[in-house]
Amino acid sequence: MRERSVKNNYKADFPLLANSDLIYLDSAATSQKPQCVIDALTNYYQTQNANVHRALYGLGEAATAEYEQARKKVAGFINSEADEVIFTKGTTQGLNWIANGFAEQVLKPGDEILISIEEHHSNLVPWQIIAQKTGAKLVYVYLTADLNFDYADFEVKLNSKTKIVALHHMSNVLGNILDISKLAELTHNFGAYLVVDGAQAAAHTVLDMKKFDCDFYAFSGHKMFGPMGIGVLFGKRELLAKMQPVEYGGEMINEVSEQSADFKAAPLKFEAGTQNVAGAIGLGVAIDYLKQVGITNIEKVDLDLSKYAKNKLEEIDGITIYGHNHGIISFNLDGVHPHDVASFLDADDLCLRAGHHCAEPLMNYLKIPACLRASFSIYNDYSDVDALANSLKKIKEFFGK
Ligand SMILES: Cc1ncc(COP(=O)(O)O)c(C=O)c1O
Repeated sequence: MRERSVKNNYKADFPLLANSDLIYLDSAATSQKPQCVIDALTNYYQTQNANVHRALYGLGEAATAEYEQARKKVAGFINSEADEVIFTKGTTQGLNWIANGFAEQVLKPGDEILISIEEHHSNLVPWQIIAQKTGAKLVYVYLTADLNFDYADFEVKLNSKTKIVALHHMSNVLGNILDISKLAELTHNFGAYLVVDGAQAAAHTVLDMKKFDCDFYAFSGHKMFGPMGIGVLFGKRELLAKMQPVEYGGEMINEVSEQSADFKAAPLKFEAGTQNVAGAIGLGVAIDYLKQVGITNIEKVDLDLSKYAKNKLEEIDGITIYGHNHGIISFNLDGVHPHDVASFLDADDLCLRAGHHCAEPLMNYLKIPACLRASFSIYNDYSDVDALANSLKKIKEFFGK
């Protein structure tokens, strides 16, 4: 096993990393899972498995109680009420549901949907489709010269035609975090709704729906130490009452007759069919773990490692850095395609994403086809960044750059 120069106390909690030499620098794609979350999934299937909200026997009632307990845990974590928390497959599903179940009712021809050039395709393509369906127009907020969200441009673009503002909380490429409370206030001044893509932010900063005052907020369990296939859509109670379900089926109804059906109230009206119960319980355990580590500690590690990485990479001639913030650094090695760099890094056990990061309009804006991204979590330390810098130096020599 590789000698580690810095002792990381959290790595031991993550079996995939604790028992290997892998240097995992792709937590923005998905975080590794701590043993407690893996155990919660196994335990559910070994001792608690039953369908929820249907069974009248003890095992089923206990599973329902655990599932609803997980919902309460999420509500506590994001400072909302439990009936404002809908379980989804992940951020993508949540954003599609808002676009199709809510925004489609609100938008008319000529209305505007304001998004930013930094959006992940999950918070962009659903809006393109809804704009095409309703005759609304997509309007973009661009970046400042130092590649930050341009609040001045936002204020210029926001107007009485704006009906939906859909923004990331934390960029998956540049790592910057937006001021959601301020954006909500500006948005509401024009009577528009603020939809937030929280996929990256959920494991990196405090989530407080009451303080943010956004109208909808979507995030994914798998990026915050939880299982894949579970996510959360928060919506303000009065808006969830207006929003239509996008899927229909079992357990979301009060009564069904031959020609029509009457739906339950939120959140159950959105949770049609058998749900990812083990996933929801696993997400609850991931939240316990996150709280135990402490978001403030995570923020400290994020900022520390992205700054350390910036300094290390800047020492290498021919590296262009695009963004470095909150546990993310995106860069290219001039003259070498990022896919080639990623393959060479892999040979040194370094796991890094290379590509357009599901943010093609941003890549076009930056005038690059793709880039590399190192993203950190609490199981990373300086030795991981040192290994990345050393490997990049070797690759640079190999390509004669
Ligand atoms: C900013 C952002 N939004 C949305 C998503 C989509 O998340 P998921 O694939 O979990 O639905 C991602 C995933 O990388 C993301 O980084």
